[in-house]
Amino acid sequence: MNNAPIGVYDSGFGGLSVWRELRCLLPHESLLYLGDGKNCPYGGRSRAEIEGFAIEAVERLVEEGVKMVVVGCNTATTAAVETLRKRWPDMPIVGLEPAVKPACLSTVTRKIAVLATAHSLSSDMFLDTAARYASDVEVVKVVGEGFVELVENDMEQSVEAERLVRKAVEPLLDKGVDKLVLGCTHYPFLRPIIERIVADRGIEVIDSGAAVARRVEWLLDRYDIAASGDNTPTMRYMTFADEEYRKRLEHKAETIINRPETE
Ligand code: DGL
Repeated sequence: MNNAPIGVYDSGFGGLSVWRELRCLLPHESLLYLGDGKNCPYGGRSRAEIEGFAIEAVERLVEEGVKMVVVGCNTATTAAVETLRKRWPDMPIVGLEPAVKPACLSTVTRKIAVLATAHSLSSDMFLDTAARYASDVEVVKVVGEGFVELVENDMEQSVEAERLVRKAVEPLLDKGVDKLVLGCTHYPFLRPIIERIVADRGIEVIDSGAAVARRVEWLLDRYDIAASGDNTPTMRYMTFADEEYRKRLEHKAETIINRPETE
């Protein structure tokens, strides 16, 4: 038993889509969310830069006494998860990867699409996963241009969001894909628009949030560090940006718990 918090880290607000799954599946666990904010978006940055941000973030979470780290960011995972695991060998560190495997195992048309940041789509980790599971599946890669900025600016319900999401997703409609993988934790916030566009076109939208929460549950058990059943969980929010950003982060977290718009 261990009532210390689980640290969840992302470049900004996106990891809240994972945080929400953790909160629902593991209601006794305290969560400490670190949304960088200062260096967001990560998607167009170099691997070395992102690795530096991720090390700084995990150092901070470790200082705060977390018992586990969830890198709730596909981009930071591809750039840094191996380095983080080497640096903190005793800390369970969970990374996020686009759900390419389940999509490949269930596609009927043998064509899937992956929507992610430019960094994630060109990373070795993504290419390795695609080579392993998608050798006989065609993978259409699409960068969600401007998606992260929409979510960071609370513009998920705007006309601009509709325009940018349509621009990225509509070209997929006549490509014969039957699975659309959301490979960035910011993108589930745009899921209502995405679902509307692909509705009745036989395309299933898949993200990794729930699977990651189940993996965390499994690791808590394996390391024997789950919180006790009578623990009153605490929710804390930190950032490398300013207090205003931190407050927006907290507000967004409360909003998605009370109004599950990412479902
Ligand atoms: N939420 C992120 C991801 O899962 C990072 C987005 C960004 O900062 O570009 O990839």
